[in-house]
Amino acid sequence: MPANNKKQDLERLFKQNRTWIKKVTEEDPDYFSRLVDQQNPEYLWIGCSDSRVPANQIVGLKPGEVFVHRNIANMVVHTDFNALSVIQFAIDRLKVKNIIVVGHYGCSGIEAAMNNARIGIADNWIRHIKDVHDKHNRELKHIQDDHARLDRLCELNVLEQVVNIGQTNIVQDAWSMGQDIAIHGCIYSLRDGVLRDLDTTVTDTNELNQRYQQLLSK
Ligand code: CO
Repeated sequence: MPANNKKQDLERLFKQNRTWIKKVTEEDPDYFSRLVDQQNPEYLWIGCSDSRVPANQIVGLKPGEVFVHRNIANMVVHTDFNALSVIQFAIDRLKVKNIIVVGHYGCSGIEAAMNNARIGIADNWIRHIKDVHDKHNRELKHIQDDHARLDRLCELNVLEQVVNIGQTNIVQDAWSMGQDIAIHGCIYSLRDGVLRDLDTTVTDTNELNQRYQQLLSK
């Protein structure tokens, strides 16, 4: 395929970009001059790369209002310098007050882990989700319906990522210095667009341990 033909695929995006600029500056003439010097988000969003779960749109936040990290199945792995760098920047520089892990039902990454599907390099990433599955196998094996079991694993994965974030040295240090940071776990439904709170909110180390035990004993 010649490059010129492929460039046409981008033309729609440039056109939409110009339309968007027109719309936002008509509504708010200072829009770009205000954002150009600083971003001041209160939220760090850690979500799935799935194209159907875009951070800003779902919760109606404008550019500048949410700092975003996305990967397959919204994971926070302690050796992932990409995620850790985002978290540190958000906490130390941007001083975000809320970190939200946003999972979604029917996540293909979680499904691949549950079904032991082979994908390629992502198998190594998905291995971390299998660890979550294995850790909670006692609960999961009693759920007969495949969809219900997948949905529950999507929820449990969010819970485990909330814990992983709380256990990073970044959050531990920030909490010990009295920085106001809450970590929340939410789940999004592709069926109706509703974002639900998984009631995992933690704001310090004690709460982290207590909430985790409580949520698993339900
Ligand atoms: Co997903």
